[in-house]
Amino acid sequence: MLGTVSRMEELMQATINGISIAYHDQGSGFPIVFLHAFPLSRMMWAPQEAALAQDFRIVTLDLRGHGESDAPLWQYTLEQAADDVRGLLDHLAIPHAVFVGLSMGGYILFAFYRRYAERVKGLVLADTRAQADTAEGKLARFELAQIAYKQGARAIADIMIPKLLSPATTQTRPELVQRVRAMIEGNEISGIAGDLMAMAARPDSLPLLDQVSCPTQVIVGELDLPTPPSDAKLMVERIPNARLTIIPGAAHLANLEQPELFNETVRSFVSTLVSHQRGYTNNC
Ligand code: MLT
Repeated sequence: MLGTVSRMEELMQATINGISIAYHDQGSGFPIVFLHAFPLSRMMWAPQEAALAQDFRIVTLDLRGHGESDAPLWQYTLEQAADDVRGLLDHLAIPHAVFVGLSMGGYILFAFYRRYAERVKGLVLADTRAQADTAEGKLARFELAQIAYKQGARAIADIMIPKLLSPATTQTRPELVQRVRAMIEGNEISGIAGDLMAMAARPDSLPLLDQVSCPTQVIVGELDLPTPPSDAKLMVERIPNARLTIIPGAAHLANLEQPELFNETVRSFVSTLVSHQRGYTNNC
């Protein structure tokens, strides 16, 4: 599973589960691992890296099919993505971490927690949901994959950007819209279609929620449409002692639209958790 690593300035790559995975590892202290949304890349975490690497070890990765990681033609499931994350943790000799997953990143965290709960010291579930897709939702994924196949990543960006960002952001922050567009258009069609199949096949994670024994922070943008505050509240009701932060003025990509509030929420959650766990060796 583990293999070579090469570092070219910012780009770090490791061979994990037979493919090249690009990642970024910076800072020192307690590790926080960030899992990005569909159909983006680790670049969406730039504001979190800039703010949090002063206090923590920050690891971001391009999930298979995204950014500078390989985008093979098959082998896309959320369990496979969870295995890739575990492989990278092993590669980096990180036994435990806090994990932040936004939207699809959150779906992967549920898969990761089912398999590797002993590696998890805390969960930040951002702009995500525990429910599986409805039949209608699965059909929409198939149709989006067809658009990707026939029209390319640019057409996916046109469809996704109004779902990811608030109307105010799309109208007044062209540089942020362009960054999001560049991330989407930088992905291979195999990765986009692979993710869509993987998300359509994901199980219902509602039954998992009351078994989560880690400290958990849920974050949601108040204007999030794909995974609205009602989904966040449902997770908070069912995960023991979970806390909820609703970010005003943000839509689905709350970490990019309101980075200061998002970063402060993550910083406060991890700082509290680390201070409580200091001196303890047990897993959560
Ligand atoms: C994401 O942001 O990862 C997607 O909106 C998730 C989804 O399509 O369910």
